[in-house]
Amino acid sequence: MKQIPASLLTLVAGIVITLISFWVGSHNNLLPIQASTAAPAVDSIFNVMVIIGTALFIIVEGAILYFAIRYRRPKDDDSDGVPLEGNLQLEIFWTAIPAIIVIGLGVYSVDVYREMGGLSVGEHAMHSSMMMGQASSTLVAQAPSDVVSDVPTLLADASDDDASTAKYGFGAAPGAEEQAPDVVVNVTGMQFAWLYEYPNEDDLMTAELHIPVNKDVQLNLEATDVIHSFWVPAFRLKQDAIPGKPTQLRFVATRPGTYDVVCAELCGSYHGGMRSEVIVHTEEEYQEWLVEEMEYAMGSNDEGAIASASAALPVDTTQLSTAEYLAPYSEEWGVSPTHLPQHDHHSGHHGM
Ligand code: CUA
Repeated sequence: MKQIPASLLTLVAGIVITLISFWVGSHNNLLPIQASTAAPAVDSIFNVMVIIGTALFIIVEGAILYFAIRYRRPKDDDSDGVPLEGNLQLEIFWTAIPAIIVIGLGVYSVDVYREMGGLSVGEHAMHSSMMMGQASSTLVAQAPSDVVSDVPTLLADASDDDASTAKYGFGAAPGAEEQAPDVVVNVTGMQFAWLYEYPNEDDLMTAELHIPVNKDVQLNLEATDVIHSFWVPAFRLKQDAIPGKPTQLRFVATRPGTYDVVCAELCGSYHGGMRSEVIVHTEEEYQEWLVEEMEYAMGSNDEGAIASASAALPVDTTQLSTAEYLAPYSEEWGVSPTHLPQHDHHSGHHGM
């Protein structure tokens, strides 16, 4: 041991730790399947953080173990330890390293956020309101003077919080800000379900989200009661749905399949059950699905169709008693609905 210089040992340890950390970082298998254009970017920053975390873990825990064993108290030695106090160089070193890591990750994460469209929310809508502004100034030039006095207030109103323009969420990917999305779906979060409405398809309504693959999809989110969060783990996207504040989530799904939609904001007693699905179709399948749904909606004049359509739609849970609300689950839990409490589940907040 004495013959090997410490600097060489440190170098070897550094190389070994680096190799282990990179291996762990790229084989962590902690994330679900990648199904959107945002997923690879999010996963690379996650993996970088796992690499750094693994290296820090090995260094810190390794140092603790090494020092605890190497410098343990010899038998029958009851004397005091060496009085050590401060080491400026060492303190600068272990302050600077984390600072550099954190700043680096911060810059990297903003870049990923920008790539995902986080900095271009509502840009498309903003562009059209700017055009409206131009139109209004032309109007000012031509209007008689008594009308002009009202125009500033009108303009102020228009530029003010326009309720239909989302200010939060994810917008178009960089370079696509001027393009309108291919598919628009209005998503409403309510206790305890997600409802999807297709404004360009005769306001078709569904309980699962259906979208075509490789198309620019824009979700306009809102909530009717409390804050919910629309989360698709496979897309690596999560966006709050807020009552009175429209939000937006624009993305491109890259892999056909069925993926979970999870509410990720504690929104009440049945928050855990507020789940839905997003079905990513091939373009062909999507068109077929649309035609099928439209025919279905048109035929919904007869009662059977209405009954099955309303069965597919989320129920207004505020109108249900606890027993009715829990009926679909009670069989699974092995309890009879009659054993469930009979009062309205919104009347009290005891212990749920
Ligand atoms: Cu909605 Cu949790």
